[in-house]
Amino acid sequence: MSLFDLNGKVALVTGAATGLGQGIALALARQGATLVLSDKPECSLKETFLLIQKETEWEAALLPIDVRDPAQIDEGVTRVLASFGRVDVLINNAGINRPKPGLEVDLENWEDHYQTNVRGGFLLAQKLAPAMIEAKWGRVIWISSQSGLIGIPGQPVYCSTKGAVIQLVRTLGVEWAKHGITVNSIAPTFVETNLTRRRLQQPEFLEFVLGKIPAGRLATVEEIAAAAIFLASKEASMVNCHTLCVDGGWTAW
Ligand SMILES: NC(=O)c1ccc[n+]([C@@H]2O[C@H](COP(=O)([O-])OP(=O)(O)OC[C@H]3O[C@@H](n4cnc5c(N)ncnc54)[C@H](O)[C@@H]3O)[C@@H](O)[C@H]2O)c1
Repeated sequence: MSLFDLNGKVALVTGAATGLGQGIALALARQGATLVLSDKPECSLKETFLLIQKETEWEAALLPIDVRDPAQIDEGVTRVLASFGRVDVLINNAGINRPKPGLEVDLENWEDHYQTNVRGGFLLAQKLAPAMIEAKWGRVIWISSQSGLIGIPGQPVYCSTKGAVIQLVRTLGVEWAKHGITVNSIAPTFVETNLTRRRLQQPEFLEFVLGKIPAGRLATVEEIAAAAIFLASKEASMVNCHTLCVDGGWTAW
């Protein structure tokens, strides 16, 4: 049997309409997982759905929910469990970054970041964990960020949400390990997506970023997706409470 085989596993990916979420969903589908694609109701999941269908000939399920809304999470989890009985792999990828220096952060900016980047993923994990416990197997994988391990001027709220995610991973991983569940995160450096494109198009910012990455280049969606496949696999059963940096060395110095 091949390494990192996910046949028979059900994987739910949030923020799957584009960017890292789309790449991770496609990579998990290529490994054999059945996909539940989720994003905000106003964001079309069609492109990801068609990519998966074209490559694997399987149809993904769609779960339009806004992770800031606990009622939508409750209702969405109920629907997924009614259809599949359980989710084996939860990828908490949905996230926002609306940079503002500390002196300019307002309550709306603060709440938006925490509800999206921290609370949404926590509630999904909390509500899907009982079925994982029953199955004695589960994977909760957050896309945190190198920004949870270092400070980046101009984005204190984003950095603090990613630090919070890394602490959730450590603590939930300890609580749930006895049930065969691992909880980990992936901490990417900059990848060009809708989230980062405008800033990376500014020559000064790009120079700052590349000057910090010893590898001398940005990361790719495929490199982040590869880490997700590994952490989702049975081969990673003893990797728990860990944040896997895919940062070309940024956080090492
Ligand atoms: N791109 C990078 O350089 C980078 C680096 C480190 C970490 N990350 C993290 O990776 C994750 C994905 O980022 P990306 O670069 O693909 O960004 P992106 O903006 O391309 O995609 C994010 C997706 O999340 C969805 N989303 C946002 N708010 C949501 C909500 N309230 N409910 C449901 N879905 C919501 C968006 O609709 C979008 O499809 C984020 O958590 C981000 O913080 C990205």
